Amino acid sequence: MYEPLSHETSRSERATHYELTLQRIDALLEGEDDWVSAMATVACELHHSFAYFHWTGFYRHLSHEVLAVGPYQGAHACLRIPFSRGVCGAAARTQETQLVADVHAFEDHIACSSTTLSELVVPIVVRDRVLAVLDVDSDLPAVFHDTDKRYLERLAAGLAERYAHARIPKPPAAIEVLATSPEPKTQKEE
Ligand code: SME
Repeated sequence: MYEPLSHETSRSERATHYELTLQRIDALLEGEDDWVSAMATVACELHHSFAYFHWTGFYRHLSHEVLAVGPYQGAHACLRIPFSRGVCGAAARTQETQLVADVHAFEDHIACSSTTLSELVVPIVVRDRVLAVLDVDSDLPAVFHDTDKRYLERLAAGLAERYAHARIPKPPAAIEVLATSPEPKTQKEE
């Protein structure tokens, strides 16, 4: 484990620290095909590598457009978040990273912890469907910037590729099509 990186470091120091952290995560996940074990390992490694990460973890796409908390480090978190709510929901809904410098200015922010001031949420997308989101919260204001975004997006893309076999709930449209298909007519009805 490396010395946790302070937020008071240069962009290039931050980038180098991410390079090393991502290399270490890659080595730890070598040969690991279980998605839950992978999320637990990533949450632990990130949380202890960056001093300004005060909550670090995953929300998994559990049932249609509902996220459920996954492996994390930090204070206890909200258990379920619909795609329609909060920063995590916005990341899942739009499939785009949400970099929030001031959570109090984000209208729909869900305050799992009253000390959180800034947040970065990266979706993990497999074949156009959200597998999970990686959520990092800080008690410091505006602490995340494009270096954090770039590296956590790279990490998310690697996880999406490696764990593309993990379960993602099916969209209900597929179920509806089956449910609303007309019954085949019997000869009597025709
Ligand atoms: N703040 C997040 C909720 C998750 S936690 O902070 C751990 C949100 O608005 O989605």
